[in-house]
Amino acid sequence: MSMQNVASPATGFTAPKRNSLTHIPGDEGWPIIGQTLKVLADPKGHAERHARKYGLVYRTHTFGETNIVLLGPEANELVLFDQAKIFSSTHGWNPILGRLFPRGLMLLDFDEHRLHRRALSVAFKAGPMKSYLTELDKGIARRVAEWRQKPGEMLLYPAMKQLTLDLAATSFLGADIGPEVGEINRAFVDLVAASIAPIRRPLPGTQMARGVAGRKRVVAYFRERIPERRAKGGGDDLFSQLCHATHEDGALLSEQDIIDHMSFLMLAAHDTLTSSLTSFVGELAAHPEWQGKLRDEVTGLGLAKDAPTSFDDLEKLPLSEMAFKEALRMKPPVPSIPRRAVRDFTFKGFAIPAGTGVGVNPLFTHHMPEIWPEPERFDPLRFTEEAQRNRHRFAWVPFSGGAHMCLGLHFAYMQAKCFARHFLQGLQVSLPPGYKADWQMWPIPKPRDGLRVVVKPI
Ligand code: HEM
Repeated sequence: MSMQNVASPATGFTAPKRNSLTHIPGDEGWPIIGQTLKVLADPKGHAERHARKYGLVYRTHTFGETNIVLLGPEANELVLFDQAKIFSSTHGWNPILGRLFPRGLMLLDFDEHRLHRRALSVAFKAGPMKSYLTELDKGIARRVAEWRQKPGEMLLYPAMKQLTLDLAATSFLGADIGPEVGEINRAFVDLVAASIAPIRRPLPGTQMARGVAGRKRVVAYFRERIPERRAKGGGDDLFSQLCHATHEDGALLSEQDIIDHMSFLMLAAHDTLTSSLTSFVGELAAHPEWQGKLRDEVTGLGLAKDAPTSFDDLEKLPLSEMAFKEALRMKPPVPSIPRRAVRDFTFKGFAIPAGTGVGVNPLFTHHMPEIWPEPERFDPLRFTEEAQRNRHRFAWVPFSGGAHMCLGLHFAYMQAKCFARHFLQGLQVSLPPGYKADWQMWPIPKPRDGLRVVVKPI
């Protein structure tokens, strides 16, 4: 890549001294708190203002550290594709997720990461995916049938969160998970909420303390059950798949690896799916013409309301997939992605030393008007094959890219399209008159008031 120039070898990960970054334009804000509150209040506006003032590379100070933000598709390619292995994901994500999700796949680097990713990928091959679809399909059909019984206004976000949680229980842990399901779900919700809690130490009464307790419960649950899953053989759920997954030399993953990977997979799937399915349905509620087109597509499958959805059916829903992609463009569930440079590098003429925390920003890139005309307009036609052909391949990165590209992206499409099929076949959705949803965009996009929608059975 022409814009990068690897200089010195890895020297460890101590953050560089503040003055070694002052040649990079930027604004670090107030002492100690830096720009943190401004980023939290309006992450997109903050990046856009800084880009206008300083350009696509700028220095800022957030969460106790000076870091460098690299904006746009070229930056995404440099950092995420990371051909020269400059950027550590471990040391980017550890400060945020390390305490609660140690050694999750996204928190491993380079050769070790590659080995684990290969071992985990068996669980995402067509065979197991078809089994997950069976569970997802039953769960979604049941929930849509319940919603059909209660027409009127509902809060979309909490309903989606509960659905995603219930679907994960069966497709990740197995349909026979038993009476602990409620308790495990609660422990898991605490664990996920703590991963993005502002107070990072487990002080009594804090979300982080509840998260640490939740982790203990979830870890104990997995540890107790690994021997019985291994003894049973087979098993269609994700947990059983990992209990039998092996490294290249044929050795089973260790118990601790299974625990760490399972906990992380549940995190990786949960808030991301909740957020994206909510924004997807929110856009369809706001755009009845698109809702109609997608409904025509799903009814065109010719399935009775209570008939199951097959893998092949999902292949026949290109418009639904495009609309979901557009929702992911507008509100990427992972709006910014952190890394730490393990070697010196240069980008757009700026020399950046090893140890620097760097961030790329899907949320900013997805709204660059030179790439996405009228970026605030919902338009699934941005994702026709032809429209995509001339676009930079790192202009749309809701699933990241390169070695750490989301391992569950086909799972996500599968759940989204299966949901679209049942939801649009069974219900019409609209927004209450005069209502406009109010979204917080960071750390994960979420409607502040839960997103009010009105559903009507059809
Ligand atoms: C719309 C839903 C989803 C979105 C937007 C999403 C987004 C992402 C992103 C941006 C990353 C990479 C972050 C980075 O480069 O640092 C990632 C990684 C990952 N995701 Fe997803 N994700 C989604 C759903 C899922 C699901 C359903 C699963 C599992 C069933 C999953 C499993 C993973 C795993 C295992 C990784 C780590 C990959 C690696 O480090 O090699 N994700 N996801």
